Amino acid sequence: MSRPFYVTTPIYYVNARPHLGHAYTTIVADVAARFHTMCQTDVFFLTGTDEHGDKVVRAAKKEGLSPRVYVDKISQLFRDLWPELQIEHSYFIRTTDPSHIAVVEQILQRIYNKGDIYFSEYEGLYCFGCERFYTERELVDHKCPDHETEPEVIKESNYFFKMSNYQDWLIDHIRNTPDFIRPERYKNEVLAFLRDPLEDLCISRPKSRLKWGITLPFDKDYVTYVWFDALLNYISALGYPDGELYNKFWPSAQHIVAKDILKPHGIYWPIMLKAADIPIYQHLNVHGYWNVDQSKMSKSIGNVVDPLQLKNIYGLDAFRFFLIRDMTFGLDSNFSELALVHRINSDLANDLGNLFSRVLSMTHKYFDGVVPQVDPDVAKGFKLGLESGAIRTIRDFERSMDAFEFHKALAAVWEFIGQMNKTIDVTAPWVLAKKKSSRKQLAAVIYNLLEGLRIICGLIYPVMPSTAATMRKHLGLDDKTAFYHINQLKHWKRLAPGTKIPKSVILFPRIDLTQKTTDVQTQTETGPANSDIKPEITIADFNKIDLRVATVIRAEQIPRAKKLLKLEVDLGQKRTLVAGIAENYSPEELVGKQIIIVANLKPAKLMGILSNGMLLAAVDQSDVTLATLDKSVDPGTPLK
Ligand code: MSP
Repeated sequence: MSRPFYVTTPIYYVNARPHLGHAYTTIVADVAARFHTMCQTDVFFLTGTDEHGDKVVRAAKKEGLSPRVYVDKISQLFRDLWPELQIEHSYFIRTTDPSHIAVVEQILQRIYNKGDIYFSEYEGLYCFGCERFYTERELVDHKCPDHETEPEVIKESNYFFKMSNYQDWLIDHIRNTPDFIRPERYKNEVLAFLRDPLEDLCISRPKSRLKWGITLPFDKDYVTYVWFDALLNYISALGYPDGELYNKFWPSAQHIVAKDILKPHGIYWPIMLKAADIPIYQHLNVHGYWNVDQSKMSKSIGNVVDPLQLKNIYGLDAFRFFLIRDMTFGLDSNFSELALVHRINSDLANDLGNLFSRVLSMTHKYFDGVVPQVDPDVAKGFKLGLESGAIRTIRDFERSMDAFEFHKALAAVWEFIGQMNKTIDVTAPWVLAKKKSSRKQLAAVIYNLLEGLRIICGLIYPVMPSTAATMRKHLGLDDKTAFYHINQLKHWKRLAPGTKIPKSVILFPRIDLTQKTTDVQTQTETGPANSDIKPEITIADFNKIDLRVATVIRAEQIPRAKKLLKLEVDLGQKRTLVAGIAENYSPEELVGKQIIIVANLKPAKLMGILSNGMLLAAVDQSDVTLATLDKSVDPGTPLK
């Protein structure tokens, strides 16, 4: 058994519902966890929610809820999302858990006793969005680079953590520990930051300003700064200081974060650990940002991508594959639905899907669906190169997965898929099948192709577990996890000749690009609580939108799409719409209702159904309310 593997995601703030960015990090962690399980390593995978602080208090207020009720509600949204994305974390931590609070108190007290925390008056520039003080140097045009708002000058007495005591130690640690922060660009970023003297960290907030936090054990008038509280989740979740899990997993901790929180993880966290005499984590793995149409995802722009919607439309495995394959871990990536569709069509439907169905169909056509026996004499003289190709692929795959270069790991697998497809073209089994004398060669080709599929199916498992299971079933293999062990994959000729295999299935249907014309990416989060107004348009712009009254004639749930309903409406002519309101309206209550639709929106195919128009609704964080009229009018009446 190799060294254990402990992987963490950031614990997400509960001031917003989960989006594509959160899904990406958590899927990456799931992929890494599944890969290490394949390597027969003991794995612990942690995720959770960050629930204290000013941001949360403000978000709760906006919804008219107490912080306690609010954090329960949003934390649950995260908890519910992960199984939908087939994310199998070992534990979900919340910073409001009493066991976490006890660890925070203990560490604070220890560092205080040691003399690394002191009390002082401070005047500084404070960004309420980030919940931290900024130095002039960090601001861009006097504004917070993240929130683009001017920080406020705040003067108050607070507790400070003497980070400066540990600056030289940290520089040495980063320089002397290979890959401590990776990829290298982020290590360099942290080292560049450490070139200037490190300011001490303000780790308290007076209760007169903020009550929602962990009270300092040495001063009841203050709560703990949210980052000092949050970072400790990585050890409190393991039962620090003497939990079995802590002893086993902490020495091999690997954090995954995006570049936005490099500083707390690359600077505050190792220094906190050092000051508290706790061993330092092993690696900090930093990825870039998903942008949409080249800009940051944001509620005010209205371009926040909802992972569940994409999963419902394109299927979970395709969605997971796209995220892992399209982002070079460490760099920013631009999300577009078109790129997603292209990936599905080329890599999944074409390369993998076609290969799978070609090989299985040939096995049925030429060998009645039975794995053929390879004649040892033919095998010797008839080199296909698939075995050596597979060994090379597994080696590259392992190396890249270990190094958190997931896109490269998949690229290696797809190179092998290419080699397999080429083998079919070169050996032309349909020609071999014509002559009785080449029957043995045909058997060797088909057997080796089936073996190649077995390897591919193992290697795609961390990213696409359901597709791997389907492939495995169609190769006549059982459902044991051991099948995925990397050591099993390294042995060629594991498929037993004589095994009957089921007929092929379509793994990934091609998406018709002519039907797929609109963006379905936006997670609408506007509503009464949201005052963000979109940019001004002219009346001519507005007149381009054809709003009509429509009467719902029929409504039904779309199978396998929890949120979607298929509606038939009358607006002078009959139309079919697909609407994401299934969690808010039952089909029965919709029939007969008059709704408002955008009648001239380009049609889009959702779950295989062509949606010809879009209904209007008020959407806030918790509810969807259909826009209706206060008296009945003729179907098709325009709105102006
Ligand atoms: N609560 C802190 C983390 C504390 S960890 C001890 C926090 N929360 S957050 O909700 O803002 O989550 C930030 C993280 O979400 C990023 O580091 C990244 O993992 C993920 N992402 C959020 N938006 C993202 C993108 N647009 N793209 C990629 N990942 C992003 O910070």
